[in-house]
Amino acid sequence: MSILAPRGTYDVMPDESANWIFVEEKAREISWIYGYSEVRTPILKLRSFFSRGIGEETDIVEKEMYTFPDKKGRSLTLRPEGTASVVRAYLERKVPQDRLFKAYYIGPFFRYERPQAGRYRQFYQWGIEAIGSMDPALDVETIKVAMAFYSSLGLKNLSCDINSIGCRNCRTPYKEALKEYFKDKVEHMCPDCRRRLDKNPLRILDCKRESCIEPVKGSPVMIDFLCDDCRVHFENLKNYLSLLNIPFKLNPFIVRGLDYYTKTVYEVVSNSLGAQNSLCGGGRYDNLIEDLGGPSVPAVGFAAGLERAIMVMEKEGGAFTEKSKTEVFFISMGVEAKKAASKLLDGVRSAGIMAETDYLGRSIKTQMKEAGRLGAKFVALIGDEELKSNSITVKDMVKKEQESVRTEELVKYLKEKNQNK
Ligand code: HAM
Repeated sequence: MSILAPRGTYDVMPDESANWIFVEEKAREISWIYGYSEVRTPILKLRSFFSRGIGEETDIVEKEMYTFPDKKGRSLTLRPEGTASVVRAYLERKVPQDRLFKAYYIGPFFRYERPQAGRYRQFYQWGIEAIGSMDPALDVETIKVAMAFYSSLGLKNLSCDINSIGCRNCRTPYKEALKEYFKDKVEHMCPDCRRRLDKNPLRILDCKRESCIEPVKGSPVMIDFLCDDCRVHFENLKNYLSLLNIPFKLNPFIVRGLDYYTKTVYEVVSNSLGAQNSLCGGGRYDNLIEDLGGPSVPAVGFAAGLERAIMVMEKEGGAFTEKSKTEVFFISMGVEAKKAASKLLDGVRSAGIMAETDYLGRSIKTQMKEAGRLGAKFVALIGDEELKSNSITVKDMVKKEQESVRTEELVKYLKEKNQNK
């Protein structure tokens, strides 16, 4: 029996989770400031739902989904992304179309990818979705949310890459132009791209294989094919980005790995990461709701990989808060003293003060060492002397001073000390 976590998954241990909590709290705070409330959707989904939503010819659906039959033979999938799930909930709950629906989610997602630094099979995303408006100012709001999040984490060296991949109307002539351009190059390209040429030539632009990078460089770009509506939307998007002083870079090769996008697509990229440098990605998906059997409602959103955000923070020495330290460590000597200490410990905790004690029957010396390891600000000692006088000896570990405190005064004493720190 192996005790190893499955390949591409990992544990977050108690002494590592503070960074996660910090990042997740920032994500929730930023979501709230910008008017997004949390939505929680099931991790299990029917497979058919994802293939329709994300696109049959995408890598995610073709190769990366964790799919299995349940006991009744239904084909279920562990969610590989959040957008289709939010749309499903939006449709099932019949959210009124005349209002803007704004939601965020944080949770695990699953893709059967080749694991490497920054790429896992179970990973965490924070994503936001705004359903119900065509306004390019809303696209920019979502970009601003992402940038505000990274700035609250203290990340530097970021670039916001934008592109437009048009709508179904203007994409058809573009796909034809791509087919024409790649038709005499494709035989030297990877087998996936050879297959993509007919079915979905846009995917070729996304291929990271050595053999495909060079030919892609000179290919026609979507922005030259945009229809009037998509062009105006893209111009407005850029104007709003400038208005809010959000630096951006045009990147005509962003097509995104999912098929539902229309018009705006974007990625925030970190120059501090290696190959997996995309911190977050998103864009418009004006047809997805209709494609999934709902009304025609436009939408926009993004998702951010939390492992990658934490990786960059660790690399750049980002703004993690100091790990919370133990306030008081209780040490007792003797059976009766232990009972008294247990009661005091409970009282201190009930008053909202973080306190710890020893449950391993260790020597006083080792317990003092443990208090030091936990970064305790105070050590509260109780033995026969203290029992007799109804008091407790409180040692300030920073000032290296100690005082005798009446047991009934302990909470007050610790609170006052804390205020003066
Ligand atoms: P995505 O580009 O597939 O988009 O994923 C978004 C982010 O999730 C990536 O930029 C990356 O940070 C992280 N990510 C993706 N796969 C992995 C992995 N295997 N390991 C670690 N991190 C990963 C979406 O998922 C869309 N649903 C985004 C969206 C929301 N578009 C509109 N609304």
